[in-house]
Amino acid sequence: MENQNRPSFWSGFMSTNWSILITILSVFVGAIIICFGYLFLEDDIQKHLQKKELTPAQLEKLTQRAEQRISIAAEEANWDKVVDGIHLRTGFHADPNLQTIISACTSCHSSKLVTQNRATREGWETMIRWMQATQGLQDLGDSEPVILDYLAKYYAPKATGRRAQLDLANIEWYILELE
Ligand code: HEC
Repeated sequence: MENQNRPSFWSGFMSTNWSILITILSVFVGAIIICFGYLFLEDDIQKHLQKKELTPAQLEKLTQRAEQRISIAAEEANWDKVVDGIHLRTGFHADPNLQTIISACTSCHSSKLVTQNRATREGWETMIRWMQATQGLQDLGDSEPVILDYLAKYYAPKATGRRAQLDLANIEWYILELE
């Protein structure tokens, strides 16, 4: 009788202990899984908890920033655009040597200072010598003839917006009467 009871007592004891052990283990494993899950998803969880509606001021700011980026992108797209033979960004005449002129002549002052001037090749050379002597312009090396040719071609005196010569024969002269 005792011999038959004993195993059943032991098996009962063992199965109780095992189930306690398994319960404790699964609580541990569950806790570990939750901890890891939180570690991986922490940012998302935080974001979800902190999610707020944008105020109109914030929305406006974001819109402005987006518009700024769009206009910068548009400017970059136009960076080297040429319309009617004029390079939009600098106002220089388009030419195969344009990039040489841009890099040599726009680092110190606006390209406008160049395009609003007119001179012969010698005149341009004098200006370059003057800038070299007094304004720190470097020796232009092999680029100098290219630059002078370009300037003499597009910014020569005859190409200026001078008024036409007076047609002397057809002018109706009048006498200015002074009182
Ligand atoms: C190292 C700087 C520098 C570089 C590079 C430079 N310049 Fe100048 N340039 C100057 C300065 C400084 C002035 C005087 C600006 C002022 O008066 O406001 C000037 C003035 C001028 C003027 C006006 C002269 C006048 O009589 O009013 C012209 C035209 C000119 N530069 C053309 C050029 C050209 C063409 C190039 C390219 C070859 C060039 N510059 C490169 C510094 C430079």
